[in-house]
Amino acid sequence: MSLGVLYVVVTAAGATRQVPSRLLPLAAGQGWDVYVLATEQAQSTFPETMRQIAEATGRAVRTDFHTAVGYSLPDPDAVIVAPATYNTITKWALGIADTYVLTRLAEQVGRGIPITAAPYANVRFAAHPTYQGSLTTLKEWGVNVVIGPSEPHESGDGAADDFPWDAILATVSRPAGS
Ligand SMILES: Cc1cc2nc3c(=O)[nH]c(=O)nc-3n(C[C@H](O)[C@H](O)[C@H](O)COP(=O)(O)O)c2cc1C
Repeated sequence: MSLGVLYVVVTAAGATRQVPSRLLPLAAGQGWDVYVLATEQAQSTFPETMRQIAEATGRAVRTDFHTAVGYSLPDPDAVIVAPATYNTITKWALGIADTYVLTRLAEQVGRGIPITAAPYANVRFAAHPTYQGSLTTLKEWGVNVVIGPSEPHESGDGAADDFPWDAILATVSRPAGS
């Protein structure tokens, strides 16, 4: 049985490489109909991952409005933003909608659907004076913020083995029968 439409928003953070192997099988196994949206920076930084995502979902990764790809997205029943860069967290928390992904995210806040963000930011980004305030703002808006056990991580572009994909998915998945 389908749980509904799940947007998975990926950004230009190292853990995006894990999305095809770690998140998508879990989400599909739970019955989500998954649409992946990527920032333009994610698309250009991780082109092979974008190909793997398209193959796994059977859909092109969305980085722009429907005029570019040829199909419109259904409204989501839940949204996961993972991994979320410092940049996307900061701009989303300010209400900025100057890209396709940020526009979609700004639209979803306040719709009453489950939204979860899981940052993947190194210690230098996390030390920026705005960072904790941005996470607090998202939480005040009702966004589930899931912080992995190794966050913030040390500098470098590796993907942490313990990025909390199961915990992230659990925040948006309804118990059976609800
Ligand atoms: C290989 C690579 C890995 C990166 N990893 C991260 C990361 O893990 N976390 C982060 O916040 N930024 C990371 N960055 C920097 C972001 O990609 C950069 O801030 C970018 O503007 C984010 O754009 P986006 O939020 O639209 O995806 C990385 C950049 C590169 C080139």
